[in-house]
Amino acid sequence: MRTEIIYADSTGDLEWVGEKAADLLAAGEVVALPAETVYGLAADAMNPDAVAKIFAAKERPAHDPLIVHIFNREDLRLVATIPDDIAEVCKKLRDEFWPGALTLVLPKRPEVPDSVTAGLDTVAVRMPADSVFRAVLKAFQGPLAAPSANRFGRISPTSASAVEDELGGRIPMIIDGGACRDGVESTIIKIEAVEGTKPNFHILRSGPVTIEMLKPFGRCKLPGKKGFISTGIEAPGQLDSHYAPTTPLRVIPRPEDFVPEEGKRYALLTLDGGKKSKLMDAAAWDKIEMLSPGAGKLPEAAVRFFHLLRQLDGEGFDEIIAEPMPDHGVGIALNDRLRRAQHGSGSATQNAADE
Ligand code: TXA
Ligand code: MG
Repeated sequence: MRTEIIYADSTGDLEWVGEKAADLLAAGEVVALPAETVYGLAADAMNPDAVAKIFAAKERPAHDPLIVHIFNREDLRLVATIPDDIAEVCKKLRDEFWPGALTLVLPKRPEVPDSVTAGLDTVAVRMPADSVFRAVLKAFQGPLAAPSANRFGRISPTSASAVEDELGGRIPMIIDGGACRDGVESTIIKIEAVEGTKPNFHILRSGPVTIEMLKPFGRCKLPGKKGFISTGIEAPGQLDSHYAPTTPLRVIPRPEDFVPEEGKRYALLTLDGGKKSKLMDAAAWDKIEMLSPGAGKLPEAAVRFFHLLRQLDGEGFDEIIAEPMPDHGVGIALNDRLRRAQHGSGSATQNAADE
């Protein structure tokens, strides 16, 4: 299949781009497009045949549910129902964070095909902020299912060229909208009403909407910590092995934990190479990549994270050594991605197949 790439930078005609994509989507095809988080692979969420093409192009197992994207806050009712006991907090969260990188897991409406939700009785929904994604939703006039536009288990794409590396020849269209603003996938939460007090937010995936940002609205419960209730699904975004480079990757917090082997080529991935970077002198690095050079700013690190990981993965190192990020803000999401990347690294395809 020939993959057409169309360009939608800020000077472009977004209406035209939206309509061109919507025509393909209405014909039951898939289209890769930018979101503010990472690039997505979209299809008509209400058309099981179109949704099946997402799973085929990504080689994604059917037990991994997709996120549904809507144009308006009101469109939420097309795909989900909102239980009375969380209606108020749901509204507050939508008002505060939509359009943007917060995905809500809610009871699904029967119209949503089971393939979208992997047979679960809940659906994950968000309203994206990216102007290209919004132009496509506006022209299509219906909800779009869209996972990240990478092959299953691999590094998420944050540029159109990364999508081309992953899915070129497998899909009919990629919309190039430049680099993604946030750089990591949306925060996914499930809300649990608690009588007489604030609700609990079970953080199913950490992301750009941080715990600090969610705190005023509810109590955040993180996986592995007290009070977290698993959804019972073992979706790959929540599996141990994901976001994986083919080069082995290790997260090393302390220099004494790293002993370089003679003759091997190592790359270091660090936040800023500054005073807090303890690994700078731990080896004669063949390459050092700084996520936020000099500044050490976590949002900047997030924007560059998958891009630099993908780049290092293509440079033939024996191992990528990563320093853990500060454990606050979007650093929590980066540490989550690093941990899963480590788990699956070196043999991404094998791990994906095992799962
Ligand atoms: O930022 C994003 O969320 C991007 C862009 C394209 O919007 N999309 C994305 O989709 O990251 P994906 O498929 O790579 O991750 C979706 C994850 C699944 O792996 C699963 O963990 C979770 O969303 N998910 C989907 N439906 C769910 C449900 N009903 N209950 C719990 N988790 C669900
Ligand atoms: Mg993904």
